[in-house]
Amino acid sequence: MHKFCCYVLLLLSFLYFPLALSWSQNTQFNQAENYEGSSDLVKLEYHMGPVLASPINLYIIWYGHWNPTHQATIRDFLYSLSSSAPYPSVADWWKTVRLYTDQTGSNITGSISLSGEFYDSRYSHGVYLSRLSMQSIIKTAVASYPRPLPLNPRNGLYLVLTSSDVHVEDFCRAACGFHYFTFPTIVGVTVPYAWIGYSGAQCPGMCAYPFAWPKYSGKPPPSTNGGNNIMRAPNGDAGVDGMISVIAHELAEVSSNPLVNAWYAGDDPTAPTEIADLCLGLYGSGGGGGYVGKVYKDSWGNGYNLNGVKGRRFLVQWVWNPVRRRCFGPNAMD
Ligand SMILES: *[C@@H]1O[C@H](CO)[C@@H](O)[C@H](O)[C@H]1NC(C)=O
Repeated sequence: MHKFCCYVLLLLSFLYFPLALSWSQNTQFNQAENYEGSSDLVKLEYHMGPVLASPINLYIIWYGHWNPTHQATIRDFLYSLSSSAPYPSVADWWKTVRLYTDQTGSNITGSISLSGEFYDSRYSHGVYLSRLSMQSIIKTAVASYPRPLPLNPRNGLYLVLTSSDVHVEDFCRAACGFHYFTFPTIVGVTVPYAWIGYSGAQCPGMCAYPFAWPKYSGKPPPSTNGGNNIMRAPNGDAGVDGMISVIAHELAEVSSNPLVNAWYAGDDPTAPTEIADLCLGLYGSGGGGGYVGKVYKDSWGNGYNLNGVKGRRFLVQWVWNPVRRRCFGPNAMD
């Protein structure tokens, strides 16, 4: 992972996209392949901090101008985290995340509810955002009059989702999303949060992989089970379907490492490798080396690996399973 020595307060634990640079594609995917087959390379350790063990109240801040169809897809994904759906479901996928515990032996919660939404449609902090400005956006939402978003330091988790026209520091270059926690000096309390950007307009090839790929990278497109065509997005939009997997990635990591002192690999807490980083680009059995792994294809040719509420389907990357000691998802063949 990159190290940003001087931005220790700002960064920590963001999602590196699988195709950031031409060399990193192979690096990332070969790692995923290795990790799937072998546990010797991974030293994931617990650093004694808390995990999100209490039922999670999720709060979304829709920053900018959002398409209601895209919002509905994202909401349905979040509802699917703790609702039943045919196996393999999004809730089945979350069961791997639930295997992580804190020092009291409490597991990560299986209860995640969408408890509030805030529309920052006036771009309160402009269209060029730094990492740190996410905290100011949260502050604006919880201090808004007349209908503030609840400030919930006990079991709140805030998602800042930026629309297609918003530029975020490192977005499309080093990150598709990141998670961190707020500072009392900015927000008043410490609460975990994550930011994820809609990449459909700015960099689908970077952040909506495998529904898009960097056309000028010299790499072939990713494909569903070995075919030659690009995988089609199960909810009809590469940007939002790609964003779903990034949201899942950040939720898994913020839950297992909310204060950046719980579950991660590597010696450097300012650049931790977390439970979803270990499985970037891996969505099914046999994945690795640019192949996403064995996933399903619906009758329209859309790729997916999980079922959700209302008959929805999603494609979500796998996460590290600490019991099996490999990357895993419920669509695994073994
Ligand atoms: C809690 O975590 C432990 C250790 O990984 C695991 O054995 C157990 O099945 C988990 N419980 C739940 C409800 O996931």
